[in-house]
Amino acid sequence: MNLILLGGPGAGKGTQAKKLIDKFQTPQISTGDILRAAVKEGTEMGRKAKEYMDAGKLVPDEVVIGIIKDRLKQPDCQKGFILDGFPRTVPQAEALDRVLVGLGAKIDHVVSIDVDEEALVTRLTGRRTCKNAACGQMFHIKFTLPKKEGVCDKCGTELYQRDDDNETTVRSRLTTYNQATAPLIGYYSVKGLVRPIAGVGSIDDIFNQIVGILTAGVKCSCGH
Ligand code: AP5
Repeated sequence: MNLILLGGPGAGKGTQAKKLIDKFQTPQISTGDILRAAVKEGTEMGRKAKEYMDAGKLVPDEVVIGIIKDRLKQPDCQKGFILDGFPRTVPQAEALDRVLVGLGAKIDHVVSIDVDEEALVTRLTGRRTCKNAACGQMFHIKFTLPKKEGVCDKCGTELYQRDDDNETTVRSRLTTYNQATAPLIGYYSVKGLVRPIAGVGSIDDIFNQIVGILTAGVKCSCGH
């Protein structure tokens, strides 16, 4: 199963991807996480990317396409992958198509999670993220409180607020999404791949809807 999670900033792509990994043992490929790791390491790419990320703008296509090209070649992607935050522009989607042809793979579903903009602002400005990159679990100061304030339930590491989760940058990210990324719904609709999901409701309800879509019509090897 090769899946794209599409949706505005804060729509719940990362939250749902983490639950899908547990259920399907499929790797999550988050270009945002890969770029934040490069920023933390202080690499040349990370330093350049940070300027775009802090401004709520997209990192240039050639940078993220290069990242994805390398990542999809890794052996853990052979049985499937969950793309979270990529593609984000039509040229990125076209490049992905070419990479997949080269790998003899294809996208099975584009799950498009829809949440209204003011709810997204509330979600992102209240989000707290685990500092441990290998965990990266998300919490929220109102909706998904950790058991102990400021500490990740999963791994016990300190939580932090992302630099781009302030209201000014969030609003800029929303504008960027509407201009550059929303057209992908049309791009994938033409291919019959879009599975729309209303992203409002409990995290588990939304997860169950996604699992229902991904498993519909899937048969056991015994034919049932
Ligand atoms: P990225 O890290 O991809 O950020 P994003 O797309 O803006 O998405 P988020 O990670 O902020 O949100 P999410 O949808 O994963 O929501 P989450 O599950 O955390 O990208 C960051 C930056 O990197 C970009 O701005 C850009 O500069 C650059 N970049 C990345 N990819 C790029 C690309 N392909 N091309 C160019 N540049 C790129 O949930 C949010 C909050 O809501 C959490 O607190 C969570 O607990 C809560 N929540 C989740 N679900 C629910 C629910 N159902 N009800 C209530 N609360 C909920």
